[in-house]
Amino acid sequence: MRAMAHYLPLSRVARLVGQSRASIQRMIHDGELATFDGMVDMNELLRVFPDVSWEDDGEFKRVQEIKEKAYGKRIYERALPDKEVLAERLFEMGREFAAAKTLLLHYDEVLRFLNDKLDDLADRGGPALYEAVAGVKLWLKRELDAAPKEAERAESLLAHESVMRIMSAQVTVQPSGHEFLVEGNDTLLEAALRVGLPLNYGCSNGNCGECRARLVSGQLRRVHPHDFTFREQDKANGDFLLCSYTAVTDVVIEAAVAGAADIPQQRIPARVKAVERLGERIVALHLTTPRSQRLRFLAGQRVRLAADGIAGEYHIASCPCEDRQITLHIRRDNRPFTRKAFDSLAKEDTVTIEGPFGGFVYNIESRRPALFVAWEHGFAPIQSLIQHAMSLEIADAMHLYWVAGETGHYLDNLCRSWADAMDNFHYHPIDGAHDPAGLVERLLADHGDLAHTDLYAVGPHDLLRALEAGAMARGLSPLGWHGEVL
Ligand code: FES
Repeated sequence: MRAMAHYLPLSRVARLVGQSRASIQRMIHDGELATFDGMVDMNELLRVFPDVSWEDDGEFKRVQEIKEKAYGKRIYERALPDKEVLAERLFEMGREFAAAKTLLLHYDEVLRFLNDKLDDLADRGGPALYEAVAGVKLWLKRELDAAPKEAERAESLLAHESVMRIMSAQVTVQPSGHEFLVEGNDTLLEAALRVGLPLNYGCSNGNCGECRARLVSGQLRRVHPHDFTFREQDKANGDFLLCSYTAVTDVVIEAAVAGAADIPQQRIPARVKAVERLGERIVALHLTTPRSQRLRFLAGQRVRLAADGIAGEYHIASCPCEDRQITLHIRRDNRPFTRKAFDSLAKEDTVTIEGPFGGFVYNIESRRPALFVAWEHGFAPIQSLIQHAMSLEIADAMHLYWVAGETGHYLDNLCRSWADAMDNFHYHPIDGAHDPAGLVERLLADHGDLAHTDLYAVGPHDLLRALEAGAMARGLSPLGWHGEVL
């Protein structure tokens, strides 16, 4: 006997089985996992993942830790939803539980009725019918008494999924199709930024209206008041502010995703958190922006850093999903700010960040495999792109080619850890300088047709020209080419 149909959204499936959303999507694409309207039936999940132990689930552990009060106050607040949201989610689940229970009582009645009818039939028929009815009744009883084979696992899966639904809600963004989870007291805007999804916004505090979105389905709750006012007609249309509302149930919203041209220029004072030497020729500069001012940028962009009257422009190496933490890789050269970064910049110094600049950004609308080529410290924007793609779980497969001579592969361990952690990530370090044509031949040798691939490359002009021509010859579409001269 199978458990009743119960459908789960992909983000939750990924969390439950401990895999990335991209790998779940790949299984669906390859026909290994069936879906219905983009959702996965619980029975199908139990069939495809017979060995998964739900007990390892992080959400369950967190609830356990909250119960044991092992959490610090701030983490506690961050993990648990607002109490009104919690109450509404519990109320929603209570309603579902009541509906399921009513249905079960009804089935019970139907069974009782069936039993009486069968008895009637047996009494009125001859011995042959009496025996046949007795056989049917025996079979029915055995089936009803036997616990379904998957009962224990189905029960455990349902319990875990219920905890996830109490702790978080899933948001699906239209028309882009991105999905993310809202946890704790986060607004929809905060939750989107946490995964690096650049939804449009301005003031973050309910004044400008730039984070306006439309609710398509599901239930929201206002968690921050706002001064921005909507016309009655807009309210009726489902319009709301991402920076004021959280999701009570799983929701579908219509919201605009920002491109490089939508992001305003900013000027933010930041504190040096650390100056980290990564070999002889590279320092990683770790900066923290003030609590109320996070830098808006897209992965792959540059900023200008200034301190004590000198300035320099560098690529950001960190992901926009890292909140107020910004990291830049600075290669040793003779520019004044670079010399300062190597010689005198220290923890707690103040640096002004201006920007962001540049249009070398990830195409987050694409789900195609991505090929990344980094030349020396051109690894910085590539690292940002890769971490962004990982955070959004959008690329189907990723190949990283890092060509390094003088700088060395200064974050080799990080790249290897990505390759170890994800079966769709492949790392190819290449040593030393090469002539561009030979290098391009080597880079592209592993890839036949590039018609359905995106290529992101950062390096010297000659290399980019040769790479673009070589990739186009292998079918790369002009829209799939993203080059940044170093
Ligand atoms: S960002 Fe300004 S109102 Fe939401």
